[in-house]
Amino acid sequence: MSAANGIWLLGDRGMLGRQIVVELQKSGIAFAASDREVDISDWPSLKAFSSGKKISWIINCAAYTAVDQAEIDSAAAFRVNAAGVENLAKLAAGLGAKLVHFSTDYVFDGRARRPYLESDPPRPLSQYGQSKWQGEKLLTANCPSAFIFRISWLYGVFGNNFVNTMLRIFREKEVARMVNDQFGSPTYAAALAGNIVRLIESGSERYGLYHYCYGGVIPWFDFAACIMDLALKSGWIEKKIPLLAVSTSEFPTRAARPLRAVLDNGKVVRELGFRVVDWQLNLKDFFREKALLEKSQP
Ligand SMILES: NC(=O)c1ccc[n+]([C@@H]2O[C@H](COP(=O)([O-])OP(=O)(O)OC[C@H]3O[C@@H](n4cnc5c(N)ncnc54)[C@H](OP(=O)(O)O)[C@@H]3O)[C@@H](O)[C@H]2O)c1
Repeated sequence: MSAANGIWLLGDRGMLGRQIVVELQKSGIAFAASDREVDISDWPSLKAFSSGKKISWIINCAAYTAVDQAEIDSAAAFRVNAAGVENLAKLAAGLGAKLVHFSTDYVFDGRARRPYLESDPPRPLSQYGQSKWQGEKLLTANCPSAFIFRISWLYGVFGNNFVNTMLRIFREKEVARMVNDQFGSPTYAAALAGNIVRLIESGSERYGLYHYCYGGVIPWFDFAACIMDLALKSGWIEKKIPLLAVSTSEFPTRAARPLRAVLDNGKVVRELGFRVVDWQLNLKDFFREKALLEKSQP
């Protein structure tokens, strides 16, 4: 693949990476892409891939995202999410390229009573959250031309995520237990990817840290209920199954999650002109995109 436009997408086989591939292709933008074969924690690999190429934008979707596993193997999480991101920051700075990077609402402890602003101090509860925050700090210290987008509850048509998991559970189970006391705002990968491609097309230099999520704050339970309604309407499932509300304490996970890590998306709308709609509209788009994807597959 050529890098005719000087764009290098890393992590192109992940959930968000695949969606950015789709949006770049829709816009007819050429790009170079890599995933595991160019390990971001391995400086010589990064140098070898970039050598001789004109690179003006680096989009980093590569990350260690196994939140619970990171509690057992935090070194692996820090190697990718902190040291790997530091490598990318130094590479981008050396090349004079702009860098787009993604972080997470898990940098917060979720105790605030209002949506988090970019100026609020992080306090991660998990090793994953710590590693992502460390990555943000290393990136900011090493690359002056970087955009960092903190996102929450990412879902999309590709890969493992809450919505795809619900569709499988609704088909396979008689009843589903859903956490009702963890609140957040879902982020639809296709909509985010569209905003990122428009950012690149605009040539923006409004670097900095941005919070990005969709309008509305809901518990996982309500998200699941809405997924079930739309899945029924669009023929993904034939019947509804009962949803049982449970508390986080009844659903123990190795890594602690913030109970209410809602991001304030005002700055990204004001300063970068990102389009943000209500999460329910995005979920309808998800079902349309999923149907198209299904049709296009042999
Ligand atoms: N998913 C969410 O709910 C969520 C929420 C907030 C923020 N985010 C952030 O959003 C970004 C994208 O997330 P995602 O869900 O799309 O992640 P993902 O699906 O796990 O994709 C990450 C990709 O990076 C690859 N990768 C892992 N280690 C690598 C390395 N050392 N070098 C190069 N590539 C490597 C992965 O390969 P393997 O699959 O082989 O490991 C995978 O293809 C991440 O920064 C994540 O932290 C995600």
